[in-house]
Amino acid sequence: MSEQDAWKRAAAKAALEEITDGMTVGLGTGSTAAHFIDLLGERVAQGFKVQGVPTSEASAAQAKALGIHLPEMHDVETIHVTVDGTDEFDSQLRLIKGGGGALLREKIIAGASQRMIVIADDSKLVDHLGAFALPVEVVPFGLPLTAGAVANACRYVLGRDIEMDMRLDKDERVFVTDGGHYILDLKAEKIEQPEALAIALAGIPGVVDHGLFLGMASKVITAGPDGVKHHGGVN
Ligand code: A5P
Repeated sequence: MSEQDAWKRAAAKAALEEITDGMTVGLGTGSTAAHFIDLLGERVAQGFKVQGVPTSEASAAQAKALGIHLPEMHDVETIHVTVDGTDEFDSQLRLIKGGGGALLREKIIAGASQRMIVIADDSKLVDHLGAFALPVEVVPFGLPLTAGAVANACRYVLGRDIEMDMRLDKDERVFVTDGGHYILDLKAEKIEQPEALAIALAGIPGVVDHGLFLGMASKVITAGPDGVKHHGGVN
């Protein structure tokens, strides 16, 4: 295991301490969340009783293989806590997520959760969001029109033109999300007003959602060379 992987696992382990018997737990997506699911699976194998609500097909498959009970989505009424990774976070616990393409389900599940615990290695803490390209999930219909509207929204909020890429998969084909949508990755570099950009993007009809998770994280747990740290965490 690489050093960075060991930090991700350490953050996941710290989050696991906040999970108690009987909870319904939102299961994030990505390499850090995968460590959490793996550790949760170990606990379940020892008799721990939880049920999982996965944020992607990949996380569902992993959880299922580990014997974590996954209720049907239409039976889920309460999610006590979601544990998920992030691509960036700032001192106000604002996040950019969606590097793995699961942002829509991640946001639905985190938004419906009583708490969201974010886990990461400490390289994810940034002074300003935006160095990591901001994913925007869009419907395929009218893509050029939506892309144009996204460019206009960015110009209006950020006061400059930005580059954007159509997300491709590892075979260089257009990446398709679990929901059947495409992703535009916005290279904003520095997002001075995440709230204003979030509102502007959300108002575009062809935009399904975007990777700005604002006011959602209850705490962020990081791990790095200086050990495990808890950021925020009033609840
Ligand atoms: C998935 O769509 C993302 O939001 C991930 O949670 C995020 O990209 C973090 O992934 P890693 O834990 O692999 O860095």
